Amino acid sequence: MLKASMYLDPHYALADVPDELFGSFIEHLGRAVYDGIYCPGHPSADAQGFRRDVLDAIRPLNIPLLRYPGGNFASGYRWEDGVGPRERRPVRPDAAWRSLESNQVGLNEFAGFCRDAGAQMMLTVNLGTRGVQEACDLLEYCNLPVGSYYSDLRAAHGVKAPHAIRYWCLGNEMDGPWQMGHKTAEEYGRLAAETARAMRRLDPTVKLTAAGSSNPGMPTFPQWEATVLSHTYDDVDFLSLHQYLGDYTGDLGDYLAQSLTMDSFISAAVSACDYVRAKKRAKKEMMLSFDEWNVWFRTNGQEEREEPWRHAPAILEERYTMADAAMFGCMLITLLNHTDRVRAACLAQLVNVLAPIMTVPGGGPVWRQSIYWPFLHGSLYGRGTVLRAHVASPRYDSPSFTDVPYLETAAVWHEDSGELDIFAVNRSPGEPLLLACDLAAFGGGALTEHSALYDPDPLAVNDPGRERLTPRRVSGGSAEDGKLRAELPPLSWNVLRVGLGRRP
Ligand code: AHR
Repeated sequence: MLKASMYLDPHYALADVPDELFGSFIEHLGRAVYDGIYCPGHPSADAQGFRRDVLDAIRPLNIPLLRYPGGNFASGYRWEDGVGPRERRPVRPDAAWRSLESNQVGLNEFAGFCRDAGAQMMLTVNLGTRGVQEACDLLEYCNLPVGSYYSDLRAAHGVKAPHAIRYWCLGNEMDGPWQMGHKTAEEYGRLAAETARAMRRLDPTVKLTAAGSSNPGMPTFPQWEATVLSHTYDDVDFLSLHQYLGDYTGDLGDYLAQSLTMDSFISAAVSACDYVRAKKRAKKEMMLSFDEWNVWFRTNGQEEREEPWRHAPAILEERYTMADAAMFGCMLITLLNHTDRVRAACLAQLVNVLAPIMTVPGGGPVWRQSIYWPFLHGSLYGRGTVLRAHVASPRYDSPSFTDVPYLETAAVWHEDSGELDIFAVNRSPGEPLLLACDLAAFGGGALTEHSALYDPDPLAVNDPGRERLTPRRVSGGSAEDGKLRAELPPLSWNVLRVGLGRRP
């Protein structure tokens, strides 16, 4: 059996976890909106056409932030198409996903959906095919009190009170040649800075995100960050990062090690931010918004291979395995361990597209994929103070990585309730891992629950009506002499819930 140890001390705190770390994302893409969250005529649809059974699966995830309407879709979107009387809304070709967009769901409908889901909207403005003026028009429509052209138009559309949207993304993945209106870092940096300044003059309360790199493999990373921030540093609150992991070639150890690239991506992006800060002699520390993250590789580029110009085609419906859930757990742990600088994040995406929540096509039932569970656990138990854990884990080498720890872990302390949650992935497909955690600095503690997601088959998946991958209670853990011991099953995602001995 593999053995790892961990030392935790409440005096070594990294940062408080912002609620916004557990955001998600719904794009006008595939069946995310149509035949996903929105299905008028469905037996569970509410008066607005949104499926209550889908909302019932979303609500437990306690999502504070929903990014919308894209993604790549946002870079060719005309927001005006999606407001006002539905019968007058145009059907448009969406060049990003080569689909037809009916515009039956737009800004006001999605705002209502966010209210029902208990989330704030994070709105992406189109800086691909559009510019400063359209972004300002949209902000005026959303956030200004009635009395001006676009705010009056909103009222005429039945929404008198402003939506008061706080979080805004200044374009999406503008470094990517696939993006409509793709730009150089200079071009984008200038446009983002001017857009940010104009938007702040209309509404100084907005929180703005400049688009960083689409993944760490981009040839422009990290010079993109340095150049974009040289223009925008004073005018934005966040720099965004995106990353999807995947490409499982049959070597599980190599596959699971990929999450280490997310860790180094964040560290390098922080260095780029701090370089610009030093150059500018700025007081402000730039924060990161990891506003797209997930596992995605099987359905990549599917839109190019399938028949175009369909409405709500079933594309990018990635099926998540046990191994994917373990990798997803490693990514979530990585985000937690960087909460000093990553202050917002969005799981991409939420329903049907790269999603924890699925609906059977044509209005069938809702079901949950493996990745639903690590996200639920993180969101439920991960809001507190991340501790700087001292971890000693056995390691392995794989074809592409060296020194990969079998144990990936993060610890979140809840001072008020006197509890601690330890999130842990055992990367070993063959061996259990015995974790010994020293809690002496807390005066000891007791294991109140050990819950784990695991399966002997790394490629096991859930199916509609047969959710094989759901968390199970693990027994046998103990706590004696200030030490907690628990056995993590092979290839598993774990949550160890601990009641602490005394307040330190
Ligand atoms: O989430 C799917 C796509 O991935 C998004 O539209 C884009 O931003 C990213 O490349």
